[in-house]
Amino acid sequence: MSRKLVLSTGNQDKIVEIKNLLQHLEIEILTLDAFPGAPDVVEDGETLEENAIKKARAIADFTGLPAVADDTGLEVNYLDGAPGVYSSRYSGEHATYADNVNKLLRELMGVPREKRGARFRCVAAFCNQNDCRTIEGKCEGVIGEERRGTGGFGYDPVFYVPEYGRTFAEMDLELKNRISHRAKAFLKLRELIERGEFDFRAKKINFGA
Ligand code: IMP
Repeated sequence: MSRKLVLSTGNQDKIVEIKNLLQHLEIEILTLDAFPGAPDVVEDGETLEENAIKKARAIADFTGLPAVADDTGLEVNYLDGAPGVYSSRYSGEHATYADNVNKLLRELMGVPREKRGARFRCVAAFCNQNDCRTIEGKCEGVIGEERRGTGGFGYDPVFYVPEYGRTFAEMDLELKNRISHRAKAFLKLRELIERGEFDFRAKKINFGA
């Protein structure tokens, strides 16, 4: 397998999903642990696009290999699209998944179901040595009044998908990876890779990768 792609994320939950979405491609998927000293990218962009490109660009430059990253935001209608690009630090700089979900449930306390509409928006960025391309995926849902389910990660226990009558956390990976925001973005990316739309040439091979 000569083509290589680096996943520019340290988030193990995302790695599991993305590896599953990109499986069976004739590409070796590498993660950051294969690249000691890889830069820790600060996600200070004002948009998901900016952050996704920043993460993929930094790792493509560092490794000399094509890299892919995603940036995801939860947009809640009642909160005018918040937390959006700030989803990972919604309740503070070092917020845990639980802290963020607790804050969201507090903010929406007493808000009726018809006003609890929300969507996950995911922007995947693919960067090679020459340029970057972004692809977006969205999934519509409703923020539940309490947590349901034990699967997934992040806001999954409160992200209810009416069409399936369950939260993301009540779905198995196979179902989440057919309908989620990340699935939509990465399945499109996969299609573009299969059509040969991306240049996988490496600039320099570091670390024997
Ligand atoms: P980021 O893309 O790593 O910046 O993620 C933003 C925030 O959204 C983090 O708090 C994640 O936990 C959360 N998040 C990202 N993707 C998902 C998902 O698929 N389900 C639930 N929460 C997610």
